[in-house]
Amino acid sequence: MAEHSIPVLFSEEEIRDRIDDLAHRIAKAMTGDLMIVALLRGSFMFTADLIRALYRVGVHPQIDFMTLTSYDGIHSTKEVTINRDITEDVRDKQVLVVDDILETGRTLRYAIDVLKERGAKDIKTCMLLEKPGKRDVVAHADFVGFTVPDKFVVGYGLDYDNHYRELPYIGYLDIH
Ligand code: IMP
Ligand code: MG
Repeated sequence: MAEHSIPVLFSEEEIRDRIDDLAHRIAKAMTGDLMIVALLRGSFMFTADLIRALYRVGVHPQIDFMTLTSYDGIHSTKEVTINRDITEDVRDKQVLVVDDILETGRTLRYAIDVLKERGAKDIKTCMLLEKPGKRDVVAHADFVGFTVPDKFVVGYGLDYDNHYRELPYIGYLDIH
């Protein structure tokens, strides 16, 4: 589990540049009051950097967190459940859902449906990573950091069995 054994997919510099770019695009597309709903735990590092990049381009969102579980080890389970809910009211709000990676789409679809049901007025989605060709349900990412190959990625918040989240870069594991 030594850090040096995890090959780099995207470096700290690449991530920083890409997040600045995302912040510009979000600022353009989402004017007015904004509420960010970050899906934990995988998105915590991305969210922290994204909201500071948003600050630099003049966006000052409200922020809340929701913990959803859909994943067990390296195989996606079918069921998504809320482990910790948001405490803010999203009714009539413009909401940006932020998550680490879009794979089958189940997690994102579930989050969108919950927020819609609660009356959010406009929901957009920002994903750090997207794995193409793995979608089981329709879930659209409006803003995407990077497209990744079909590897199990870790670091920068993403985990394998709750390890590797602390890596400042995005790497991958040679399992599968
Ligand atoms: P989905 O519901 O299948 O789209 O999966 C989304 C969730 O699965 C993400 O929020 C991650 O927590 C987890 N996940 C999917 N692929 C990976 C990966 O390659 N590395 C780490 N976590 C992953
Ligand atoms: Mg996750």
